[in-house]
Amino acid sequence: TVKVVIIGGGSSYTPEIIEGLVARHDQFPISEIALVDIEQGRAKLQTIEQLAQRMVAKSGKPIKVTAHFDRRQALEGAHFVTSQIRVGGLKAREKDERIPLSHGLLGQETNGAGGIFKALRTIPVLLDIAEDMAAICPDAWLLNFTNPAGMVTEALMKHGKHKQVIGVCNIPFNMRTGVAEVLQCETNDVEIEFVGLNHFIFGRRVLIKGEDRTEEVLEKLKDPDNQYSPANIVSEGWSDLFLSAFKLLPNPYHSYYFKGASMLEKSIEDYNKNGTRAEVVQTVEESLFKKYDDVTLDHKPEELEQRGGAYYSDAACNIMTSIFNDSGDVQTVNTLNNGAISDLPDDAVIETNALIGKQGPRTLSIGKLPLGVKGIVQLMKNMEELVIEAAVTGDTHYLYQALLINPLVRDEALAETVMNELLEAHKDDLPQF
Ligand code: G6P
Ligand code: MN
Repeated sequence: TVKVVIIGGGSSYTPEIIEGLVARHDQFPISEIALVDIEQGRAKLQTIEQLAQRMVAKSGKPIKVTAHFDRRQALEGAHFVTSQIRVGGLKAREKDERIPLSHGLLGQETNGAGGIFKALRTIPVLLDIAEDMAAICPDAWLLNFTNPAGMVTEALMKHGKHKQVIGVCNIPFNMRTGVAEVLQCETNDVEIEFVGLNHFIFGRRVLIKGEDRTEEVLEKLKDPDNQYSPANIVSEGWSDLFLSAFKLLPNPYHSYYFKGASMLEKSIEDYNKNGTRAEVVQTVEESLFKKYDDVTLDHKPEELEQRGGAYYSDAACNIMTSIFNDSGDVQTVNTLNNGAISDLPDDAVIETNALIGKQGPRTLSIGKLPLGVKGIVQLMKNMEELVIEAAVTGDTHYLYQALLINPLVRDEALAETVMNELLEAHKDDLPQF
């Protein structure tokens, strides 16, 4: 028997992962999916439980779907645990997105001051989950999607009781899909050498069936029609000079750091038109849950593609399948640096290609950071380290330093103002402060 536990099972994203698990059942023969959520999410969890049961029934696979409000009970006998929670829900996200922007600061749920506060709310909860896992299912793997996935994974590796943790994001996979579209080939044939951090990752080299096609991809990205971007960030593309000079494939989040002025203008325009992304997502969710409630629905509806995390399940399910089968194939994960990038601390979590087998990820060596982005990657890591310290100690001095060195804040008066406003706005979800 193989049991997969999904913490945050009442999420509108869950049909993705159910679909992925069902589709891989021949290679990854799970026997139970246990969905876990908190009491406040009771109605949503029940809807998802029933939809998941219909999806499984349609597939004819012998998988039991159960729903739980008691996390510890659900963790019993678990082999794999995924975490996809949002502490404080979309209401908290709304504040992360609105308050910094109201002071003219750029960012979103994982970047800038809002991203820092998301980490502060989330890290203590994930540490609790790790403590439960260490006691109840010490051999299980935790696949963490919970954002900011890189920082959360690093906090777990530094301070958690359970170390079998892998951080996951759909961006690297989406970048490969994007390159496949640009080159008109199969995603499976696209290999990208990645370097960097979660939501701050670059592609350094593109190989198609072993052949280096980096230059051609960079050339094609100069065409504004050839942009890859998830639904939550609209990429306006990159200048010819940017692509020629850095010779790196940026990810869509880099727009916030390298196209600050135009992104700020665009963010304000978007906000005035549609409100925050959190508000847009609430509307998408409402209509998704209406569909999910329809007892004739037995598959993942297409509308889920309006969410930025579309296809996240491919990343998660591939990792679980490779661990289960001890495959040793290459996948992109968030894991300990341990010398892979010589310019970053060993205990830093990086987003990197690794061989995935029974023992977990074995990171492929990367060497030095590219010269042009060395400083900003080190700065971002330094900022993340400060956020983790703040999250576990509740010390506002760490928090203030993190805010101030964040490239999307960089002003001591503004750092103090947003710090105080966000601390007040989130006080119910920040018991450590
Ligand atoms: C991206 C990121 C995810 C993030 C999602 C947000 O794909 O990789 O980490 O959760 O977008 O999407 P949303 O629809 O919630 O704005
Ligand atoms: Mn992500």
